[in-house]
Amino acid sequence: MNIMAIVRRIQRVVKRALHRDFVAFEGVVLPPESLRFCGTAFRDNNTFLRSSEAECKRLKDEMGLSSTSSVLEIGCGPARLPIGILKDFGPIQRYYGVDISKGAIRWCNAHIKRKHPEYEFLHLDLKHDRYNPNGIDFTQGFQLPLEPASFDIIYLHSVFANMLADDIRAYAREFARLLRPGGKIFLTAFVEDGVPDMTVNPDDYILVPQGTLHFVRYERAYFFRMFEESGLKIDRYLQSEDLGGQSAVHLSLAD
Ligand SMILES: C[S@@+](CC[C@H](N)C(=O)[O-])C[C@H]1O[C@@H](n2cnc3c(N)ncnc32)[C@H](O)[C@@H]1O
Repeated sequence: MNIMAIVRRIQRVVKRALHRDFVAFEGVVLPPESLRFCGTAFRDNNTFLRSSEAECKRLKDEMGLSSTSSVLEIGCGPARLPIGILKDFGPIQRYYGVDISKGAIRWCNAHIKRKHPEYEFLHLDLKHDRYNPNGIDFTQGFQLPLEPASFDIIYLHSVFANMLADDIRAYAREFARLLRPGGKIFLTAFVEDGVPDMTVNPDDYILVPQGTLHFVRYERAYFFRMFEESGLKIDRYLQSEDLGGQSAVHLSLAD
């Protein structure tokens, strides 16, 4: 090979490395740090991948994940849950992830859907002052383009932690429409007793807030009512579980 061919080859390798939008870790493709919205701890590859595995285990142990499950994830970010399912569980019937971050959905399509077509991702251009300030306001009639009663599992991690009450209510109505009888919902949020109904970035809370809607904290009964009004029931509540101070809530369709 002549010297110019070698130089061109090195240039190609360097260019590819500079534009690489993924991290290869333990044989798994992970998103770049710039797309990991879950807090600075997740910039560490080991932390990110172990948390993907832990969320997959949660679905298996607590939500009955099986090879015939259809899973809907709201606020999927850059596929932390799918990465764990694909690594530790194997094929499932269907996975559908939605997010208002265009970059996250683009990454999920390029790195997950391309190899696993049963994984679908949808970008929603909804307004959120923290993640998508120029998006469109939620409306009363908000609906995802999905058939009624089509999911066994609905999952949201660290999404309602930054969301205002009207937007949560719009999603609660969708959960009741989209969940199959016998299906399960898991979500995390900042929920406490003895506090005002809803407080944005409360003083003296977990951390000094970094920017708008970093913490949206709810009073427990007020929070639960938003779901009960839509025909859902609370099955289990674990206050301030190990989720950066968030509580874990399990729900299903009311009888
Ligand atoms: C803290 S990140 C969590 C990402 C992912 N659930 C995880 O645990 O790795 C919150 C995610 O929720 C998304 N999000 C915020 N509001 C949303 C909404 N109204 N609908 C869908 N996704 C939303 C954000 O774009 C962001 O990806």
